[in-house]
Amino acid sequence: MEAVILHGGQGTRLRPLTHTGPKQLIKVAGKPVSQWVLEQIRDAGIKHVIIVLGDNIPTKVTEYYGDGSRFGVEITYVYQGKARGLADAVYKVKDVVSDKFLVYLGDNIVSYDLRRFMEFNGSASILLAKVENPNRFGVAVVENGKVVKLVEKPKEPISDLALVGVYAFTKDVFDVIEGLKPSWRGELEITDALQGLINRGKDVNYEIVEGWWKDTGTPKDILDANAFLLDKYAEKRVEGEIENSTLDGRVIVEKGAVIKNSVIRGPAYIGKGSKVINSYVGSFTSVGDNCEIIESEIEYSVLLDNVKVKGVALMDSIIGNNSIVEKGKRWQKLIIGENSSVIL
Ligand code: TTP
Repeated sequence: MEAVILHGGQGTRLRPLTHTGPKQLIKVAGKPVSQWVLEQIRDAGIKHVIIVLGDNIPTKVTEYYGDGSRFGVEITYVYQGKARGLADAVYKVKDVVSDKFLVYLGDNIVSYDLRRFMEFNGSASILLAKVENPNRFGVAVVENGKVVKLVEKPKEPISDLALVGVYAFTKDVFDVIEGLKPSWRGELEITDALQGLINRGKDVNYEIVEGWWKDTGTPKDILDANAFLLDKYAEKRVEGEIENSTLDGRVIVEKGAVIKNSVIRGPAYIGKGSKVINSYVGSFTSVGDNCEIIESEIEYSVLLDNVKVKGVALMDSIIGNNSIVEKGKRWQKLIIGENSSVIL
């Protein structure tokens, strides 16, 4: 069985962070979102991963993951290019999968043991979760243990079971996708593909996710996913240098990092080679590699790699790779893309 990670899409809701690369590579709790996905797949025992690439600097993805050996998997890349919908992305793997395969949206974090989902019967199986606002999701109507109908963003309350970003298919799905027409938004929809299977009399099964899940489509989702992953996985581990500082709770300080005259409150992550000097880093904050945090306070934020902040107080913020933020007097909430320079 193979697992397919969808790594395309436009990522419009995450601009400007997605002006310089795909959203799935944004690091949360020290790793790109899609690496959390890939490791979950690997830990479920699937060793062949297919990554479907979009048109937003796909070389960043192939450079990061390579042939997969660094992560203990074998990776095959397939190119989708322009985002023509999830069903279009799935169709691109037609010639590289065997009869059963998983599809996982590369910007989703779903706490679920995939092994339970891999042994599905029927033509497809989907992961569902109860939600309070079903009108914002694709939902499934279920009867007697089967999915009978799928509706995108229902106006009427017909089901509160939303599709989360993990699917299992047999090759039956490809025949259906060949007959699909683009939806009103010009995309081939995965819900239409599933509905097509049902209309042809095929079984679509489901599993319910009880744990936490998140589609990291917006800045707030990225911050929440970062907080969740830190809370779930961070164990105190200090490999860098600590000088005259307090590390409170589950703080990870990677090799080559230096924490000086500062307070860090866990769960928090400080990446390789980063410096934190005369500063406060609060809970649920991730600092990437080679950052400098000088005379600053940071709460509930994600700083990507090579970020420099000096004399600022940031909360609920995401700062893109290689960006600089200086001299703020009041608390700021900033979402800043790569290679930026801001003087507040
Ligand atoms: P979405 O978040 O629904 O779409 P998007 O990435 O275009 O984002 P936005 O709405 O902010 O513009 O996509 C869900 C996941 O599927 C995400 O991981 C990207 C991936 N995807 C593809 O790989 N190919 C596609 O054609 C589409 C639409 C999404």
